Formats: sequence, C-alpha cells, structure tokens
Amino acid sequence: MLDRLNSIETDALSALKAVADSAALEQWRIAHLGRNAPLMNLLGELGKLSKEERPVIGKRGNEVKRALEDALAAKTESLRRIEMERAMTQGAVDVTLPGRPLATGRLHPATQGLRKMYAVFAEMGFQVYRSREVESDEYNFELLNIPAHHPARDMWDTFHTTTPGVLLRTHTSPGQIRAMHDLGGNGTQPIRVILPGLCYRYEQVTASKDIQFWQIEGLAVGRGIRMTDLKGSLTDFARRMFHPNVRTRFRADHFPFTEPSAEMDVECFVCDGQGCAVCKHSGWLEILGCGMVHPTVLKNGGYDPSVYSGFAFGMGPQRITMLMHKIDDIRYFLANDIRFLEQF
Ligand code: DAH
Repeated sequence: MLDRLNSIETDALSALKAVADSAALEQWRIAHLGRNAPLMNLLGELGKLSKEERPVIGKRGNEVKRALEDALAAKTESLRRIEMERAMTQGAVDVTLPGRPLATGRLHPATQGLRKMYAVFAEMGFQVYRSREVESDEYNFELLNIPAHHPARDMWDTFHTTTPGVLLRTHTSPGQIRAMHDLGGNGTQPIRVILPGLCYRYEQVTASKDIQFWQIEGLAVGRGIRMTDLKGSLTDFARRMFHPNVRTRFRADHFPFTEPSAEMDVECFVCDGQGCAVCKHSGWLEILGCGMVHPTVLKNGGYDPSVYSGFAFGMGPQRITMLMHKIDDIRYFLANDIRFLEQF
C-alpha cells in the first residue's frame, strides 16, 4: 500500500511537470485529485484495512493528497503568470483602433435651446419667474386688456376646462400680471424677469404649430423705461444669442397688452441675410413680439402708469431652436424619435 502511495505521488508530480496550460492542468486535476483518481480510490479502501495498518496508510495518504494539492496550487499560480505574460507580450492589442462609441444621454434639443436663452437673459440681469399653466380667464385675457367678446380673442384659440373661467394659458403673458403683483411691492419696485413655460392652443397641429408649446415672456418695469430700452435690450439679446454682429429690425404690429407694439426680426443667420429657404428669401427671420406695456396693464399690475413704464416681449423658443438647427417640423420635439434626438 505504501509503495502504491509513493508511486501515485511520483507519477502525479512528474505528470504535473509536463502540464503547459490551464486546460491541461484541469485534466490533471481530474486525473489525480478527482473522484476516480487512484489516490481517492485508495483512500476509499482504508476501511478494509486492519486496525494496525489503517493509521499508517491513512496518514501517508493524507500527506500525498496534501502534496498534490499544494503542487496544484503552485502550478495554477505559475501558469496564470505565464499566461498573462504571454498575453501581454504576444497579444495583439491595436492601440490605434478607434474606440467604440458610447451612447450617452444628453439634454433634449428644446431644453438646450431654452437653457441658452436663460443664460443670455441671466447675463443681462433678467431673473426667471415661473407662473401657472392653468390660468383664469381674468389673467389670461381681461387683465391684459383683452375683454370678453373682443375680436382680439380670436388670436388665441383656447382650451377651456370644465370649470367656467378656468383655462390652459394660451400664452405666458398672464405671468406679467402675476409677476407685477408678486414682485412689484404694490407698484413701487422695478422688475426685470423672463417667464418661461408651456402654453396651449386649441389649433390644428401642423409642421409649425403644436397644441402645446413653449414661450419665453419678458417684462421690465421701472421709471423712465422707453422704447429705445426695448430695442436695445432685444437687439443685445439677439447678438448674444446668435451672432455679435447680427442685425435686427422692428416692424409695427398690434397686441392688446402693449402700446406701441412691434415684431422683431433678426437677419437670417442661416444665409447672413442673403436670402435662403429658411428665411423664405427675405433675409430676415421673425422671432418675437414686443412692445411698451399698455398703461391699462400696468394699472392692473398695481403700478401708476404716469410714473412707471415698461416693456414686454414674447417669443417661441422652439421656433428659434428650429431656425438655428434647420428643424422643419415642430412635432419632432415631442415625438421622442431617437433618430431625431441623437443629432443634438
Ligand atoms: N403673448 C403674445 C402671443 O402669445 C406674444 C407677445 C407679444 C408677448 C408682445 C408680449 C408682447 O409680451 O409684448 O402671441
């Protein structure tokens, strides 16, 4: 028995010397330490031995087993090193290959445009004031100098709720009144805010109109604010937003809550005013409505219009983002199509 154990040990250890890779090592483990290995069979027969023989053979058997296990552990470690070195010296890692692109998340193009506009207005000293999306008829129309049954209401097709007098705001202008009430200190404090937010209109959805869309309203109230302040501030905005030399022009228009009222165009930034499809060959892009706050609106906001004046404006940031990126359909913004979104 002892001789058998000795030769089991020598055979196993010499076979281990020939093992050159981890696959062969696993074969060796099964052959020499596995359930049917000669050593295991022998140890299984211990029970048949006499009382005198059993401890002697058992002790030697365990020594051999331990020796084989230690040899296996040492070989495993040395093979691991050899294989790693081989991988490092011979492994063909082409460091010049381009990396695999990682799909990273990012901000929605509409959000990117909005944030740029917030940043520009922040630089110019405008704070953000948020106002409610569910409004009353009073704030959305009446206090903005748009009485019930006045034909000017046709400009805003309205979603009414089942509660009479409660509607989804059709523009961010009602926030002007709320800002004046909230920040105006009973008509004593100057105000300079932008009011961004969603608006709703009961309209046919087309490439340029959605029933839900963003607006950024602006309001400045103070003593001695004049039309030149409006023109200067909005031109400054356009230069910071689009191009330091961009030209602007103001065309007379009408809004019930401003007097006088205007629309501002910027020189087409796609063709630099040369005329292209985006500006419909006019060289100009209309980007916002504006005007001097109507005395009635100032009064409704708690200000004395003989002392205070102000200017206001309203723009569609999605429209501006569309122009900047030549996006030809406003419906892309809410369609969640990854092929659209991943371009920004
Ligand atoms: N509220 C207007 C609209 O939705 C936009 C607008 C025009 C806002 C002129 C203003 C303004 O504050 O002065 O069509």
